[in-house]
Amino acid sequence: MKDDQYSLLKEKIKSNDFNSVFVLVDENTDKYCLEIFINKSQIENYKKIVIKSGEENKNIDTCVNIWKELNSQKADRKSLIINLGGGVLTDIGGFVASTYLRGIEFINVPTTLLGMVDAAHGGKTGIDFLSLKNQIGVFSMPMDVILDSVYLKTLSKEEYLNGYAEIFKHSFLTDSRDLNFNSLIKLDFFNDVDFIINKYSDIKNEIVKIDKYESNSRKVLNLGHTIGHALESYSYLSNSLDELKHGEAIIVGLITELYISNKLNNYPLDTVDRLKEVSLKYFSRISLKDSDLKGIYDLMIFDKKNDKGSVNFVLLDKSGKPIIDQKVDNDIFIEAFAYYSQ
Ligand SMILES: NC(=O)c1ccc[n+]([C@@H]2O[C@H](COP(=O)([O-])OP(=O)(O)OC[C@H]3O[C@@H](n4cnc5c(N)ncnc54)[C@H](O)[C@@H]3O)[C@@H](O)[C@H]2O)c1
Repeated sequence: MKDDQYSLLKEKIKSNDFNSVFVLVDENTDKYCLEIFINKSQIENYKKIVIKSGEENKNIDTCVNIWKELNSQKADRKSLIINLGGGVLTDIGGFVASTYLRGIEFINVPTTLLGMVDAAHGGKTGIDFLSLKNQIGVFSMPMDVILDSVYLKTLSKEEYLNGYAEIFKHSFLTDSRDLNFNSLIKLDFFNDVDFIINKYSDIKNEIVKIDKYESNSRKVLNLGHTIGHALESYSYLSNSLDELKHGEAIIVGLITELYISNKLNNYPLDTVDRLKEVSLKYFSRISLKDSDLKGIYDLMIFDKKNDKGSVNFVLLDKSGKPIIDQKVDNDIFIEAFAYYSQ
């Protein structure tokens, strides 16, 4: 990762002549990342805003607190917010910036692997509402994204691996011969991380460039997310499961949606088997009862890709050939979970 990103950042801040610069952190990135960021960027006279970490705080109350803070610190239209944190923080910070005074500039500095390869890019900002994932939000592009794997040194192994669900997803979207996936799983997840961040963030950015507002082709990035998001929301709403991290839920979504792709589109089952085998080395299998499956299915109704009351999936014809807006019956949904559970 290049340190000249920081000189360019400093230059950008200077040339835009911002009236004030805010750095948004959570209690972990405050402790582990802020000093590194300030030392590297040499930004002076910034104001710090600290929020509580965790998906359970990705809500309107956190936004209200930040808006109040910006207001009391006299942030104006020529203020800048630098979001230093994981996907939860960049989603909230981007949303707050895009709505404060009808929109001020923001820069994302992701500090989790998931943020570096996915969440910090592409301009989807937002918060959860009534425990439903990302129900309120706007599309708004960050002015810049700084990628620096130095921040990952303090990330727990569990949070680190969480990023892999989205990396696997990107690998399936791009390559008809599965070279990406097959070579990816041979890499050392920790030592080859710079290569992985560059390659897989580029894949996301290329897809976003063609369809910024997800009117069509960008929907492919939702592979694994119809089931994954519903499962994640369900884990927060129900008492029968522990709360799942985003990556933990998406890996289940990916395995089950690839299995459904096999059933509906003849997607190769051996690739789904390999994904399941590799994933289960890193993510423990979640045990789900029939009543859980019903709860998850009911939540899929709220998926943002739906229209006219039916649940729309992104599935694969083959790797690198996604199909958007495919309908899936409840029977196949249940069968996919039976496959995941065995
Ligand atoms: N906007 C998008 O396009 C997009 C894409 C994918 C995911 N997301 C969202 O991203 C979120 C998940 O992001 P995440 O997995 O990064 O979670 P997160 O932001 O909650 O970070 C995980 C944990 O790691 C801590 N942390 C962050 N950086 C650290 C560091 N360097 N050292 C030590 N601790 C650190 C955080 O405080 C938090 O406790 C979900 O809400 C998901 O919906 C958004």
